[in-house]
Amino acid sequence: MSAGFRHHHLLSIADLDQRDVNQILDAAELFIEVSRRPVRKVPTLRGKTVINMFFEASTRTRTSFELAGKRLSADVVNISTSGSSVSKGESLLDTCKTLEAMRPDLVVIRHGASGAPHFVAKQVGCSVINGGDGAHEHPTQALLDAFAIRKSLGTLSGLKVAICGDITHSRVARSNAALLNLFGSEVRFCAPRTLMPRNVEALGVKVHHDLATALDGADVIMLLRLQRERIEGPLVPSLREYARKFGVAARHLEKAAARAIVMHPGPMNRGVEIHPALADSERSVILDQVEAGVAVRMAVLYLLAKEVRAQTPTAAASDAG
Ligand code: NCD
Repeated sequence: MSAGFRHHHLLSIADLDQRDVNQILDAAELFIEVSRRPVRKVPTLRGKTVINMFFEASTRTRTSFELAGKRLSADVVNISTSGSSVSKGESLLDTCKTLEAMRPDLVVIRHGASGAPHFVAKQVGCSVINGGDGAHEHPTQALLDAFAIRKSLGTLSGLKVAICGDITHSRVARSNAALLNLFGSEVRFCAPRTLMPRNVEALGVKVHHDLATALDGADVIMLLRLQRERIEGPLVPSLREYARKFGVAARHLEKAAARAIVMHPGPMNRGVEIHPALADSERSVILDQVEAGVAVRMAVLYLLAKEVRAQTPTAAASDAG
């Protein structure tokens, strides 16, 4: 495997090709071992600084970026809106310039505005990673989902993937569609009409408004919560009604592929988009996704950190210090 990664930032899946994705997933394959060791640390990014800037709520993404950086021995600093000057009215540009003066090597940014990480990337010299921007993209989520799919089903090609839930407000749906299309899988979006954006077919997906057709023959069933923090006004009659029509339980998988797996990026709203028993069933790879999240983010940090480009991931993972 070539050690060089041809990108300075990770902003969108749209910027990647199959080779880039495979390179990240293959590196993550090596890094997942690090997290399973008694001493979960390698010196790969010693002397590097990672700043996690989270302008929106996050549990999994922020924690896994923090752990990823720490397991690679980087110095990791977390900044969230409430404790920072952002809450004092500082502009995104001023925050970036201030942080840049502290000379980080990598900045991870989650922001409610689509395109915010792209804006930051134009202003700073360090590498920028998109940790989720508005309803636009969440590239590391799609990469970790791809890792979990590849691990369970052995491939990312020729699959039927049903992504069900609040598509309109989901950056996870968009990034997954882009990545799975790259590998020639069929992506189906399933949502009530009020939660399905117009012209979404342009993303190369099939549109469904009922679970039965969306799940027919599906190899992967990915469920999304209603992103109520982004919803203005009533887009569903009631949660009960929504759960009745779009909540997925084991019985909905009867016509899915025999090997079908169930995924969820979290946070789950049990009893709404996913039946609790299904979330805890053998079909569910939800916790594998979380484990993959740390390894994939280690791989992304590693590949973007220029000075380690000469070192192969194998050497990095085996160099336990
Ligand atoms: C997702 C997000 O923030 O876009 N969650 C995540 O990163 N694990 C999906 C969501 O919040 O529903």
